[in-house]
Amino acid sequence: MTHRFSVVQTAPPDSILGLTEAFNADPNPDKMNLSVGVYKDESGKTPVLKSVKEAEKRLIDSETSKGYLSIDGMVEYREDVRRMVFGDAIAGERVAVLQAPGGTGALRVAADFMRTQLPDLRIWIPTPTWANHPAIFSAAELPTSTYRYLGADRTSLDLPGMLEDLRENAATGDAVLLHGCCHNPTGIDPSEDDWKQIAKVIADKQLLPLIDFAYQGFGDGLEQDAVGLRTVLEQVDEAIVCTSFSKNFGLYSERVGAISLVAADAGECEAARSQLKRIVRTNYSNPPRHGGAIVATILADESLTALWKEELEAMRTRITALRESFVQTMESTGKGYDFSFLLRQKGMFSFSGLTPMQVDELKSRHSIYIVGSGRINVAGMSESRMQTLCDAVASVMS
Ligand SMILES: Cc1ncc(COP(=O)(O)O)c(C=O)c1O
Repeated sequence: MTHRFSVVQTAPPDSILGLTEAFNADPNPDKMNLSVGVYKDESGKTPVLKSVKEAEKRLIDSETSKGYLSIDGMVEYREDVRRMVFGDAIAGERVAVLQAPGGTGALRVAADFMRTQLPDLRIWIPTPTWANHPAIFSAAELPTSTYRYLGADRTSLDLPGMLEDLRENAATGDAVLLHGCCHNPTGIDPSEDDWKQIAKVIADKQLLPLIDFAYQGFGDGLEQDAVGLRTVLEQVDEAIVCTSFSKNFGLYSERVGAISLVAADAGECEAARSQLKRIVRTNYSNPPRHGGAIVATILADESLTALWKEELEAMRTRITALRESFVQTMESTGKGYDFSFLLRQKGMFSFSGLTPMQVDELKSRHSIYIVGSGRINVAGMSESRMQTLCDAVASVMS
């Protein structure tokens, strides 16, 4: 009998996860992993936040049922997302929030919605962007085009190029993917004034903003990180926001996120909500409870909320301190290495400017793992090993 699956070709491995496998297999006790996209503390661990642990204890004690959630998830959680993302900027009746399995789940629901409900729509994505963006849109059969984002110096935003591409090349009514803050992989965010200019082009061309908001609180703070998104929403009355709580609550494996659709009025919002629910029903049916319940428990309790905000702030300031320490230590090598651009960038990631050959050498000679593009996860650095890291980087650059 012939094997049906004999025709199946092996899919290419995920490049970043492949690096982690190589890292895990590396016997060098001094190895460093700056490739994966998770926050790490000084000891290299991705901790469970204290606020999360406490919320979990309360949940285990009080939980009386494992019954399904509704298709769009928990009411309190959805309200929490709406407040955190939009503040008082948008009337509640114009926002449909659905709890989703992580930011990835939210992006896929958004892509399916655009593909099925908004015919002929194309989405414009920045170059570069998170590798899963084009992959998700391709899986949903949503056509994509790219707009310029990274400047020729590879350390700053090409705002004129971005605005020109959206103004001249995008068709009126297309969609545009924006990173709400902490752009992955470059760490380069628009300034408040840049956001105003971006918002104006979006409004002039009637583009639909799809805002990926996976790092709220990792840039300048919870409210400050929402400024770009809210600036865009001052100019347009329709948008979709995909939230992830993987990073800011450290809830990676619990798959906690949301899709928020902003419509022009309550009637259109309800119609869109019904379609989003249909997409969810035929995909994963309804979201997982535990992670969302943790977030809702924390945000319903003043002292837990205060503790979580403190923990989030500690993660954010550690990343900023590591950026400063790396820049200073590279400078102190006395070889004229200027990484000060890292101080203008936000969140866990930055493009280091290291070439693929240098990245390769760091791995083979020093057991330091960085993504081939030169993207580094700053949160993977540690103060205690900064000198070792910078000596290695200097040695491959000289
Ligand atoms: C830009 C961006 N969007 C979305 C996500 C998805 O996060 P989640 O793990 O919640 O699916 C990530 C995660 O790395 C990301 O970097």
